[in-house]
Amino acid sequence: MRAPLRVDTQPLWDPAVIEAARRLLHEPKSLPAWLFYDAAGSALFERITELPEYYLTRTEEALLEAEAEDILARAFAGPDPGRYPRAWPERAPVIAELGAGTARKTERLLRAALRREPAPAYLPGDVSGSALRAAWERLAAGCPALRVAPVCGPHEALFAALARLPQRKLVLFIGSSIGNYEPDEAQALLRRLHEVLQPGDALLLGTDMCKPLEVLLPAYDDAAQVTAQFNLNMLARLNREAGARFDPGRFRHIALWNAAASRIEMHLESRCSQQVPVAALGIALRFREGERIHTENSHKYDAASVDRLLHGAGFRREHSWHDAKQWFGLHLARA
Ligand code: AVI
Repeated sequence: MRAPLRVDTQPLWDPAVIEAARRLLHEPKSLPAWLFYDAAGSALFERITELPEYYLTRTEEALLEAEAEDILARAFAGPDPGRYPRAWPERAPVIAELGAGTARKTERLLRAALRREPAPAYLPGDVSGSALRAAWERLAAGCPALRVAPVCGPHEALFAALARLPQRKLVLFIGSSIGNYEPDEAQALLRRLHEVLQPGDALLLGTDMCKPLEVLLPAYDDAAQVTAQFNLNMLARLNREAGARFDPGRFRHIALWNAAASRIEMHLESRCSQQVPVAALGIALRFREGERIHTENSHKYDAASVDRLLHGAGFRREHSWHDAKQWFGLHLARA
């Protein structure tokens, strides 16, 4: 009798990517926005932040630069809550950041913190180890007095670290990242953050505000088509990581305003009727001409919706900073 054939039983495809691809089995078809951020997608997103149409990053960065001192003064104002059992440097306040990435924008605030405190601590949290390493290397060289403790993992990893720290804390959730969550998910995330903070701790939340569509739409559909490449890159990722056979040329990038939900939506629209085999799913997906895959929501806020979001999660908004055109908002809220 011949010996049975031994096969390598290593899983071929990442289970999270298979799960994401499964969304294409249901109508309306959708894909989760985290799929944007492979190496190529992250590089495309960096290019987006520098586009003339994409006002968000520039506007928030200018606000952080102009208001850093005031943000810190307000965040750490008031009587010392007296919850520090030990002497300095454990007493020094902590600045933590959800989805810190390379912390390029945050450096402005951290430099201002260093002017106020001899040894503040910075806890950048992110799922990307390479982004955190870049942040750590840059800050170690440029701000040696800053005590940097990166937390690599999902938001819950940073929450666990925060729950163990007695120091007074300011948590940053900037970059309009909150806008990419469904409203109930956004509220649940902030509620969870509120649970691990102590009374007196603060949150700095960055939100993109409602504005004329002549400004909003080009920010998500730029003339150089970088956002289109960013959107279409999801299909290239599924080809590589789920054994799919998408031809990105047979899809077009769509950005539209959904007024009822106050959000920009991104979709990939099939240019023709087609079938796309996906090895990880073991089937061929069918697309009608004009059928769309919903890939991202980017919610835009006004003062009332910011307050609803913060108050619903247990925070009290104390102050907001806006640019002169009121395009972007930074909101300081107390736990
Ligand atoms: C990461 N996030 C805040 C961006 C946004 O504006 O919603 C993602 C993005 N999508 C298209 N352009 C940028």
